[in-house]
Amino acid sequence: MQNIDWSSLSFGYVKTNYNVRCYYRNGKWGELEISSSEQVSMHMAATCLHYGQEAFEGLKCYRGKDGKVRIFRWKENCKRLQSSAEAIMLAKVPDEIFKAACWKVVQLNKDFIPPYGTGGTLYLRPLLIGTGEKVGVGPADEYLFMIFVTPVGPYFKAGFKPVKMQLVRDYDRAAPMGTGHVKVGGNYAASLRAGERAHHEGFAASIFADAKTKQYIDEAGPANFFGIKDGKYITPDSGSILPSITNLSLRELAADMGLVVERRHVPIDEIGTFEEAGACGTAAVISPIDSIQDRENGTVYQIAKNGEPGPWCQKLYKRLTGIQFGEEEDKFGWCEFVDVD
Ligand code: PLP
Ligand code: COI
Repeated sequence: MQNIDWSSLSFGYVKTNYNVRCYYRNGKWGELEISSSEQVSMHMAATCLHYGQEAFEGLKCYRGKDGKVRIFRWKENCKRLQSSAEAIMLAKVPDEIFKAACWKVVQLNKDFIPPYGTGGTLYLRPLLIGTGEKVGVGPADEYLFMIFVTPVGPYFKAGFKPVKMQLVRDYDRAAPMGTGHVKVGGNYAASLRAGERAHHEGFAASIFADAKTKQYIDEAGPANFFGIKDGKYITPDSGSILPSITNLSLRELAADMGLVVERRHVPIDEIGTFEEAGACGTAAVISPIDSIQDRENGTVYQIAKNGEPGPWCQKLYKRLTGIQFGEEEDKFGWCEFVDVD
């Protein structure tokens, strides 16, 4: 076990012992390799460096109440990486390589899995990049798939406390028929200016309006949006947001808990009618939203009451993290065990 202050971890990089790598060359994937280097060596004309041929994932591994180690819904992350690969013409990582890489990297770094009760988790960051050289615009013929891990705490410093967010219309993270629905680096590059400005102006994150009409909520920089009112869990339906696995899970839990689930356009002027709202994602889990400022006209929509998470956010958070940490029955079969001993 490492000498780390597990309860004070933030969402950042901590050096671990190993990462795993697999190369795609001559039309096929090679063997899974173990590396202890933090560096990646590649050709200076690699397509990931010039033409953004890069996709990534994020999933977590949990030390449960029973001491067992769980990975949450890896198949969904694998499917999404395959759909990212399809969108920007990367070589697709087969399920068996994705799974073997997840299991191997967790086993190799078992000493970095935060103990149960500290709130920490081991974050897995799969990465798929075009490493083949290409000067004319086109897809590479060599790829690297790798996973590194890092022990993490909450993405938003506040943890499970409502945060202020800022709605922006003057930057778009993704075009309507572009790559917003997949997890490729370019979307994040496009979101940096709005995100940094939101931080400077005192907000935890920016929320993007839909790029085409600017009438509807799309999503936050690193997380999906949901609102709750009148017994309904409401979340945007948009072709340019990332299909969040946390949101998928929350929709299933919400329905199971008796809420009506609606996936539809969410007009910006509906924000003020929500009894509760949150941003959800693997890193963010659920970050309850205190208020949203519409940057264009200065309107502030106050959502949380007295700076506290609302009752549905609390219930959903407890069910979701309860399943992940083995405190509640995993009746949907979302967790798979990794034997680390
Ligand atoms: N939206 C964006 C833009 C993200 O980067 C993420 C994080 O992966 C999410 C939503 C949440 O997705 P998930 O719940 O699958 O982590
Ligand atoms: C995640 O939730 O896994 C993310 O990828 C969000 C962000 C850190 C990019």
